[in-house]
Amino acid sequence: MYKNSMKIEFLNISDNERFARCVAAAFVLELDPTMDQLSEIKTAISEAVTNAIIHGYEDREGIITIEGNIYDDTVEFIVTDNGVGIPDISRAREPLFTGKPELERSGMGFTIMETFMDSMEVESFVGKGTRITMRKRLNKVDKSEG
Ligand SMILES: Nc1ncnc2c1ncn2[C@@H]1O[C@H](COP(=O)(O)OP(=O)(O)O)[C@@H](O)[C@H]1O
Ligand SMILES: [Mg+2]
Repeated sequence: MYKNSMKIEFLNISDNERFARCVAAAFVLELDPTMDQLSEIKTAISEAVTNAIIHGYEDREGIITIEGNIYDDTVEFIVTDNGVGIPDISRAREPLFTGKPELERSGMGFTIMETFMDSMEVESFVGKGTRITMRKRLNKVDKSEG
């Protein structure tokens, strides 16, 4: 069984959203993803990191961690912040729900992560922080399609 893993920590400045997207893309390259899969992974990571920056830490400084694991042809990303946490996770996961309507957020971040990845788990404790675990299996492209 093939296995790889990595972990990065970075400051919650918005420039690091791009950094996180690039790291995630670079990490999965060895699995030879399609362009679509690559862009789905980058978008999902970007949504999770944006949430950590905007909702988790709001205006204070904090560290965001991304852990990546590859098991055979499946990649797992775990995005963690030590911010405010989510009081009602099932409500937060609903499409179009946003805790910050004043910022004109779309409320679609979690829905996008769920759609683009095979699975997404949310663990969160108020006052402690949030941990998002996403998995996606690559190399499962059916060559007979299209
Ligand atoms: N890391 C986080 N820390 C605290 N709250 C979060 C976090 N991620 C998401 N949330 C809460 O879940 C809501 C829904 O998130 P999301 O679907 O990405 O929509 P949006 O970011 O557009 O509000 C957010 O508005 C926020 O209230
Ligand atoms: Mg969001």
